[in-house]
Amino acid sequence: MIDQPSMTDDELQQLETECAARHAAFCKAGLALDLTRGKPATDQLDLANHLDGALQGDYRSEDGTDTRNYGGLRGIPEARRLGSILLDVPAEQVLAGGNSSLTLMYLFVETAHLFGLGDAGPWRDDPAGAPRILCPVPGYDRHFALCEQLGIEMVNVTMLDTGPDMDAVEAAVRDDPRIRGIWCVPKYANPTGCVYDDATVARFANLPKLAAPGFRILWDNAYTVHDLSPQPPRLASLWKLAAEAGTADGAVIFGSTSKISFAGAGVAFMAASDKVLGAFEARLGALMIGPDKVNQLRHSRLFPDVEAIRGHMQRHAAIIRPKFDAVQQALAQGLADTGFATWTRPEGGYFVSVDTLPGMARDVIRLAAEAGVKLTPAGSTYPYGRDPEDRNIRLAPTFPPLADVRRAMEVFINCVRLAGARTIRQRQPIPEHRR
Ligand SMILES: Cc1ncc(COP(=O)(O)O)c(C=O)c1O
Repeated sequence: MIDQPSMTDDELQQLETECAARHAAFCKAGLALDLTRGKPATDQLDLANHLDGALQGDYRSEDGTDTRNYGGLRGIPEARRLGSILLDVPAEQVLAGGNSSLTLMYLFVETAHLFGLGDAGPWRDDPAGAPRILCPVPGYDRHFALCEQLGIEMVNVTMLDTGPDMDAVEAAVRDDPRIRGIWCVPKYANPTGCVYDDATVARFANLPKLAAPGFRILWDNAYTVHDLSPQPPRLASLWKLAAEAGTADGAVIFGSTSKISFAGAGVAFMAASDKVLGAFEARLGALMIGPDKVNQLRHSRLFPDVEAIRGHMQRHAAIIRPKFDAVQQALAQGLADTGFATWTRPEGGYFVSVDTLPGMARDVIRLAAEAGVKLTPAGSTYPYGRDPEDRNIRLAPTFPPLADVRRAMEVFINCVRLAGARTIRQRQPIPEHRR
């Protein structure tokens, strides 16, 4: 909850005048800054440059496969083991794919919708009606774009500090047979940074029991090792709990090395039960003869075990932590006493989520653009681009250099203060002596 600002009209007017003057100066400064996409910075990518040359002419995987050749839809054993570390799932359940987990997610949802996945028929033929997917909000825009493109209706669920509002999730799944799945980013959620607590993960493991057949938890664990703090929070294992609950067919887990090695040339993973993985593989086999196993082998040589991954991620954290600190410092110094916004303090991942007072986000983003600071478009953290209260703004500080993050935050804070003062003044009844 945001405390309502307690400034008098005179104070608000003065704030608006000061911020408008600063804004005009920023607009003249010719800035070109960007806090939009969560991309790794160049020096982060450099950390994995030794992928190049890692093989030194030895293309054989541990089972003797010549990785240069066709075949091996599930990936080479050592890559599946790397996936098993990242997804917290036994290696036998892991498929190691190409460079994008988003592609695997798209293909998975499309397969469930159009073809069915072993234990259930296609969603599109279900007599209950056209499928719906629950979307914890704010959430990841590309999950939403994927559903929109496939014509799958999205239903918002509120995110709490502990994860999605599980009372609402369970009620929706129980009451509406058209609900066929739910998107989850369980660790350092995009954009709030939330880590689902143990009780939430346990409730997820039991969720398929409440749902219609063919219900899938789409567990996108994209930020599983992307810790900023040396004592990171721990995420309970959905796979282990689902296996114990007998619901493993309903749990599908995704991840990749995109923000570990090269964002455009990593390895993506997916884990599912034998039945579901087999059905998915049958579809995949019509699309390709095998993934890029050479890249899988390079990654397996670079990241042979947990320690190698942990050490590497600490080097990432050393680069991006100062940027996250700069964002937090700017927010605390610039907004703490205004009541214009609240924000998250993530311990990992790639984003900070800011909630303004209702009806302000669009204005803030427009003002920032005027001053040369690109922010993620208003509404993008909600299905169909519709933020019902026009409040949420996603900040992505990893890519720009630290000095640019600081400068962009100065502009951003000024925009929130300016829009905040205007918003409150427009809403306040005009005092008698000013009428
Ligand atoms: C939650 C989430 N999932 C997936 C992705 C993309 O993953 P990949 O590069 O493996 O396709 C991102 C990238 O921003 C993300 O934030």
